[in-house]
Amino acid sequence: MKNCINLKIWFLNLIIMLFVMLSTTHGRPNQKFRLKAVNLGGWLVTEGWIKPSLFDAIPSKDFLDGTGLQFKSVTTKKYLCAESGGGTILVANRSSASGWETFKLWRINKETFRFRVFNKQFVGLDGYNVVAVSNSSIDSETFHIVKENDNSTRVRIKASNGYFLQVKTEEVVTADVSLVNEWRNDDPTIFVMTISDRMQGEFQITNGYGLKKAPQIMKEHWSTFIVEDDFKFIARNGLNAVRIPVGWWIASDPTPPWPYVGGSLHALDNAFLWAEKYGLKVMIDLHAAPDSQNGYEHSSSRDGAQEWGKTDESIKQTVQVIDFLTARYAKSPSLYAVELLNEPRSPDATLESLNKYYKDGYEAVRKHSSTVFVVFSNRLGSSMPREFFPLANGLMGSVIDVHYYSIFGDEFTNMSVQQNIDYIYNNRSSDLNFVTTSNGPLIFVGEWVAEWQVKGAIKNDYKRFGKAQLDVYGRATFGYAYWAFKNVNKHWSLEWMMKNGYIKF
Ligand SMILES: *[C@@H]1O[C@H](CO)[C@@H](O)[C@H](O)[C@H]1NC(C)=O
Ligand SMILES: *[C@@H]1O[C@H](CO)[C@@H](O)[C@H](O)[C@H]1NC(C)=O
Ligand SMILES: *[C@@H]1O[C@H](CO)[C@@H](O)[C@H](O)[C@H]1NC(C)=O
Ligand SMILES: *[C@@H]1O[C@H](CO)[C@@H](O)[C@H](O)[C@H]1NC(C)=O
Ligand SMILES: *[C@@H]1O[C@H](CO)[C@@H](O)[C@H](O)[C@H]1NC(C)=O
Repeated sequence: MKNCINLKIWFLNLIIMLFVMLSTTHGRPNQKFRLKAVNLGGWLVTEGWIKPSLFDAIPSKDFLDGTGLQFKSVTTKKYLCAESGGGTILVANRSSASGWETFKLWRINKETFRFRVFNKQFVGLDGYNVVAVSNSSIDSETFHIVKENDNSTRVRIKASNGYFLQVKTEEVVTADVSLVNEWRNDDPTIFVMTISDRMQGEFQITNGYGLKKAPQIMKEHWSTFIVEDDFKFIARNGLNAVRIPVGWWIASDPTPPWPYVGGSLHALDNAFLWAEKYGLKVMIDLHAAPDSQNGYEHSSSRDGAQEWGKTDESIKQTVQVIDFLTARYAKSPSLYAVELLNEPRSPDATLESLNKYYKDGYEAVRKHSSTVFVVFSNRLGSSMPREFFPLANGLMGSVIDVHYYSIFGDEFTNMSVQQNIDYIYNNRSSDLNFVTTSNGPLIFVGEWVAEWQVKGAIKNDYKRFGKAQLDVYGRATFGYAYWAFKNVNKHWSLEWMMKNGYIKF
């Protein structure tokens, strides 16, 4: 009998102990507070689609870094191509254009460029032959693109030795024509040019405007796109936090490396002042790391290449950015979380490099604060949403960020309004359940939007879609953040959605 009572007491104690352990493993005991946040996207890291007018005044704005060009010879009617994708000669024998036939620009100035090919080599000359063998931009050739006129798609390509490229035969492309005249369709120096990709990120805008003009344009943008009244509006309308994307160059403000421009740190300082004034929490989100963690314009990639994490040096440099930012704001009562890296992309951003970086980045945050949450973003292109659990489980106060969009991907193409809503209540809900475990990390739905591929939806459809997402993402243990606050595309602008009665918090 006595033994039995003892056993019961022991068992009760065990339960209590387990409960205490579980509820304090991550975050604060009995975590109740959840972020209801909005992303200040397109502010301190440029994304052209959020505010296209920013790019309007760039001279030759069609030719920015990362623009993909394809050239069809008017004589062979075939596309210029880096044979094998790079590493050897250029040919002009392809009847359709895709990766190997696309040349990515590196902009030197408004009329001078380098060309980068599919395998990442740069185009250069070997005698008169045009080749793509150099891995180093410095050793490569620069070219002018000479248009027939402003409205024409017909161009010539002139190398820095003064010679024009010509398609001698489908398999021989040389730079050896010094004199050209007229624009006739039997002229082997003429190509019809198509633009296949465009990028409008921070690299493109700062290098596009150049050293003289960019500082003025960026400062104007930073001081007008998000202002104190926005923080007031956010705080008075049911939200409690902002997630602020920043770029790695912010850590060397006021003199960041070329082509970046100083001043974004001052804007972030203001954000903290306003957040404190209106009682909002802040999550700093490193959205752009050196050499780009995903190749997109929103990580300030120069040409679509993703090279972050390939060397220990880039990881170290990124940890220093986290160290700098946490040290600067650790004393602010508004600093609530630091997200170490937004949307690294698999497979180039490897699990191995991220496990190393997340651990080092976590320690950099902990040097300055024992309470700030540290957020690990899941990888784009990975089918394993729990892949950072082993790491996070050992690190108190760690959070996993998942992004749930219903817009990218073929599975959404033909969905009706109701199918989209069902998808949130069924599929997203079970996605979220899968990553929500009683003893695992906290979960943050750091990006979502009430936009879809449905055409012609009415206001009430959008309202139901937004509400479905609030119902489901409201269960995320760390909270959620809408993408974004301001945007010329109205459904992507939470300000517009709130002011027009589409969504309510
Ligand atoms: C360029 O880099 C590739 C891959 O790293 C290497 O195989 C090749 O030898 C390099 N080419 C030159 C010219 O250095
Ligand atoms: C190009 O197009 C614009 C607008 O259509 C027109 O005003 C201009 O004259 C054209 N320029 C040439 C060189 O054809
Ligand atoms: C194009 O030319 C290269 C070089 O001679 C050759 O290896 C390749 O097979 C040719 N491709 C086509 C589609 O003719
Ligand atoms: C969407 O529907 C159209 C028309 O029925 C069809 O041709 C297309 O393949 C569908 N797309 C996808 C991704 O299911
Ligand atoms: C959503 O979940 C249902 C039920 O599990 C499944 O049959 C369906 O294929 C999923 N839809 C998509 C687009 O993944």
